[in-house]
Amino acid sequence: MIAYFNGKFMPRDEIAISPNDRGFLFADGLYEVIRSYQGRLFQLDAHLARLARGAEHLRFSRNGYGDLSKICERLVTENDLTDADALIYIQVTRGVPPTRLHYFPDAETPLTVYATAQPFTPDPDIPQKGLTVTLVPDQRWARCDIKTVGLTANVLAVQQAREMGAAEALLVRDGCIMEGAKSSFLVVSRGTVIAPPLTNYILGSITRQVVETLCREENIPFAARPIYQDRLAEADELLQAGTTFEVAPVVKVLGVDREWPAGPVTRKLQEAFKNKRFTIRCA
Ligand SMILES: Cc1ncc(COP(=O)(O)O)c(C=O)c1O
Repeated sequence: MIAYFNGKFMPRDEIAISPNDRGFLFADGLYEVIRSYQGRLFQLDAHLARLARGAEHLRFSRNGYGDLSKICERLVTENDLTDADALIYIQVTRGVPPTRLHYFPDAETPLTVYATAQPFTPDPDIPQKGLTVTLVPDQRWARCDIKTVGLTANVLAVQQAREMGAAEALLVRDGCIMEGAKSSFLVVSRGTVIAPPLTNYILGSITRQVVETLCREENIPFAARPIYQDRLAEADELLQAGTTFEVAPVVKVLGVDREWPAGPVTRKLQEAFKNKRFTIRCA
């Protein structure tokens, strides 16, 4: 596999990352996961804009990280993925200082930039049969809106879900379901699609943004409102949205005494997502 590392395209196995890298020592870095459908990068600009916003929040130096859209496109061709489904992974860290000190390295220290493209085969059952998920306390930090590589709380939540036979963990903070550990969470209630308000406790999901746009196009009401854990059973439909899940129905939440067969709004959104994903222009 050909990967990109600090200005070069090279076999991934030949990449050597310094043990002093800020990403390794402090999880002081950002990442993005982008879907490529038959060589077409889905919502690339939105992903790169989120990365740029994260870089600003983390006060990354202005040394920059190259033309990432060109890098992503070249990775797809270098790896023969123009006719396949693939996932692009980008990671940018604060670079490699000479010693481990918490404060920022010298301003001239280049960022570390790493990117890959690899084939992705989604589970074909998920869109039809839906997901079983579970509820887990949200133990993340207070800047979940920044997509950093500091994912230990997410890792623990997903592992807990996996051990319970669930595909995703819904993260609960102060009685509200914020999002999944690796995807967004939305419900449908009396015909309205509801997603939690975008605060510092939730990632600005690109797929959720696409869902909001599709709702507008399909005349489905959309509202940003808290989703209370203790009122979940009243919702008519539940769904996860994300780069890997796309739009997937949630059919079971462990511990909640009810099941949700995939409903008409979810099906309509799945259909619209499939048909319109390359024409959609998010606000
Ligand atoms: C915590 C979290 N929420 C939501 C999402 C979905 O975001 P996107 O639609 O941009 O893939 C992700 C995806 O990685 C995530 O990690």
